[in-house]
Amino acid sequence: MSHSDDNQPTKFAYWVPNVSGGLVISNIEQRTSHDPQYNVELAQVAEAAGFDYALSQIRFTAGYGADEQHESVSFSHHLLANTTSLKVIAAILPGPWNPALAAKQLSTINILTGGRVAVNIVSGWFRGEFHAIGEHWLDHDERYRRSEEFIRSLRGVWNEDTFSFRGDFYRFNDYALKPKPVDPQPEIFQGGSSRAARDMAARVSDWYFTNGNTPEGLAAQVQDIRAKAAENGRSVKVGINAFAIVRDTEEEAMAVRDEIVAKANPEAVNAFGHEVKNAGKASPEGEGNWAKSTFADLVQYNDGFRSNLIGTPLQVAERIVALKRAGADLILLGFLHFKEEVEYFGRTVIPLVRELEAAGEARAIAAE
Ligand SMILES: Cc1cc2nc3c(=O)[nH]c(=O)nc-3n(C[C@H](O)[C@H](O)[C@H](O)COP(=O)(O)O)c2cc1C
Repeated sequence: MSHSDDNQPTKFAYWVPNVSGGLVISNIEQRTSHDPQYNVELAQVAEAAGFDYALSQIRFTAGYGADEQHESVSFSHHLLANTTSLKVIAAILPGPWNPALAAKQLSTINILTGGRVAVNIVSGWFRGEFHAIGEHWLDHDERYRRSEEFIRSLRGVWNEDTFSFRGDFYRFNDYALKPKPVDPQPEIFQGGSSRAARDMAARVSDWYFTNGNTPEGLAAQVQDIRAKAAENGRSVKVGINAFAIVRDTEEEAMAVRDEIVAKANPEAVNAFGHEVKNAGKASPEGEGNWAKSTFADLVQYNDGFRSNLIGTPLQVAERIVALKRAGADLILLGFLHFKEEVEYFGRTVIPLVRELEAAGEARAIAAE
C-alpha cells in the first residue's frame, strides 16, 4: 500500500557534521570534519549533487564521541550564507532555547536567506548534557508537552499580529514580532518516534523525522501518524534516517559496514545505548527511538544501518523507492566520508531514483 505522494520526487537531506567524530561511534577512518570550511564546501557539493536539505545537530557537551560541537543555529546560517538553493534545518532544543528568542532568531535568518531556513525541534535524550548546563531534566512525555508548546508558540509568533499564550511552560502577552518571516515560513521538523512524538507530529509538526528502519517498520508508523493527523485535519510529511554505504559492488559496501562495527568502541557504544534507553524509559509504550536497537544498530547514532542503504547504486536506489512506497517523503543520510560520498551519491544514486520514480509514474498512468 502506498502512503506517500508518489508524484513528488523523494527529497534528500544530509546530516551536517557540525560535531566532531562523524556519525558512527567507531575507530574506523572517517574522512569528515566538523571544521567550518569543510562544511561550507560540503554544503556546496551537496547542493550541486541534488540534495534539498541539510540537517544540523545540537549538542551542548561531549559524550560517546562528539568531543567538539558547533552551535546549530549560527552554523546553519553560515551554510545558508554560502549556498544559494539548499535549505538548512537548524536543530533547536526547548529548555536551553525559549520560543521568543528562537522565533525572532529564525525569523531574521528566514529574511536574510529568502526563506531557506527550517527548524528541527528535538526533545532531548542526553541527561548528562542537561545536568551540565543546569537545565531541568523533565520526564519523557513532559519533554514532549514542552516541545508542543514551543512549536505552538513559534507558529503563533510568526502568524499572529499580536500573540497571547497561556501554557504550562511558556507565556506570551500581546506580543507583536516585527518584521514577520517572509514566505516560505520556516518548516517545522521534529525528531523522535515514541507515542508522544507521534501525537505531537499529528497535532503540530510539518515533518516527522524517525530513526532508521525497514520499509515495514516505517509503514506501521506512517499509518499511525497519518490516521491521527487526519483526525486533526492535518497532514504530516515523513523523513527517515539512513547511513548510506554505496560502493561499486555489494561486497565492498558490506565489508565497510562490517569494519565500522568491528572497530566500534564497545564502551562508548554501550554507554550511549544505556543513556538513550534510559531517556526513553518513561515513554510508557516503549516504542521510542532505540527501543529495539541492537549493539550494531547503536554504532550509528540513529539506527542508520537498519534502513539498509548499503550496496550498489542500483540496490540503494531500489531500497529508497521501497522506503518511499512505505511513506517516506525524505531520506536523511549520513556518510563515512561526507564530501566524497555526497558527491558520489548525487552522481550515481539520485539519477537512478529519478528513473525508477518516472517508471513507476508511467506504470501508474498506464494502469488508469
Ligand atoms: C533525525 C533526528 C535528529 C535528531 N537530532 C537531535 C539533535 O540534534 N539533538 C538532540 O539532542 N536530539 C536529537 N534527536 C533526538 C530526539 O529529539 C529525541 O530525543 C529522540 O529521538 C528520542 O525520542 P523518542 O523517545 O520520542 O523516540 C534527533 C532525533 C532524530 C530522529
